[in-house]
Amino acid sequence: MKPKPGLPAPDPAGAAHSERVAGHIGRLIDEAGGDIPFAAFMQEALYAPGLGYYVAGAPKFGASGDFVTAPEISALFGYVLARQIAGALGETGGDLLEFGAGTGALAVALLERLGELDALPRRYLILEVSAELRECQERRLAAELPDLMDRIEWLDGMPASFSGVVIANEVLDAMPVERFRMEGNSVLEARVSRDDNGFCFRYAPAPRQLEGAVRRIEEYTGSALPHGYQSEWSPGIANWIRDVAAALHAGTILLIDYGVSRREYYAPDRDSGWLRCHFRHHVHDDPLILAGMQDITAWIDFTAVAESAVAAGLDVCGYATQGHFLLHGGLHLELEEFALMTQREQAELSGQVKLLTLPAEMGENFKIIALSKGSVKPPPAFAECDSRHRL
Ligand SMILES: C[S@@+](CC[C@H](N)C(=O)[O-])C[C@H]1O[C@@H](n2cnc3c(N)ncnc32)[C@H](O)[C@@H]1O
Repeated sequence: MKPKPGLPAPDPAGAAHSERVAGHIGRLIDEAGGDIPFAAFMQEALYAPGLGYYVAGAPKFGASGDFVTAPEISALFGYVLARQIAGALGETGGDLLEFGAGTGALAVALLERLGELDALPRRYLILEVSAELRECQERRLAAELPDLMDRIEWLDGMPASFSGVVIANEVLDAMPVERFRMEGNSVLEARVSRDDNGFCFRYAPAPRQLEGAVRRIEEYTGSALPHGYQSEWSPGIANWIRDVAAALHAGTILLIDYGVSRREYYAPDRDSGWLRCHFRHHVHDDPLILAGMQDITAWIDFTAVAESAVAAGLDVCGYATQGHFLLHGGLHLELEEFALMTQREQAELSGQVKLLTLPAEMGENFKIIALSKGSVKPPPAFAECDSRHRL
């Protein structure tokens, strides 16, 4: 495998693994007659059993991996979230359900602080599609919170009925998206084929579902997308929200991810879309290389999240940037002992706060949206920083 300019060369084991993933996807392309929709490619690259990025063994999170998420940067993120959900857990007497728990870092922080606030959930449920990450979560939670293991359960599918709080941090962005391009007034679907150099894009008239989605976007924004415009649309988020809403009897759903409103997402100057790939802390926009070795993500259209929620019978009860939410959500209470810390600890903590809250870091690009069912009170931080009007 040739190294890509600007990207580190994969190690030999990684390159061999990627060849296997590429071989698997190549066979699917051949079986399908020469190409597959981009969403199918992304699904296989990330989740093909035993092969995909999220289900095979290489480290993904932290310095030795490809990217870092808020719970990996600092436990402060989970501590503030804990303060914000303690009320809803008390009101519903319920459980906490985390989707896509990564290394288990958020679960540890949430449970630690909820314990201190005397607000532990009845059960902490985790629904994780990656068997490898699930094992990692089990090991970490057993080592760090052995006394709470009898409350923690891993689910194999959506629970039948559930009351309490649902949290998903950077999960929606890991769901496969469709890619499209405008050709005059026609909508073309990006499909993945292969040639002598590897995978390549091919464009074909969009199937009805994608065409309909693009026309609804144009109707919403009030203008036709121009020739050459390229972007993404997530077919999976609405179904996922519908399934979570159907399972939720009463409670609050908190979704945190990088994203913007629909007007910003499909603004005329955003004509190359929102797909981003992460490989060893390098961000680039070519999803067709390094199959199975790099993360492929797409920013979220939060207006679509809100619309799907309303269609599924949920209330949208808050929307804010991550920075505002943390600053109004009790971050200062987590820093009360700052003056008593060593200089080194202070520097470390200040660095973490900056990464989580500064607009140029994660503070502005990351948003949190709260959805609810059954008149549960929204997280109190939204009283100070709600910007639902931007959706
Ligand atoms: C970018 S990682 C984020 C991990 C963690 N939440 C964090 O913030 O560090 C995405 C996670 O979502 C999981 N995932 C993706 N789709 C999922 C789904 N439909 N249900 C549950 N987990 C999912 C992945 O396996 C992975 O653990």
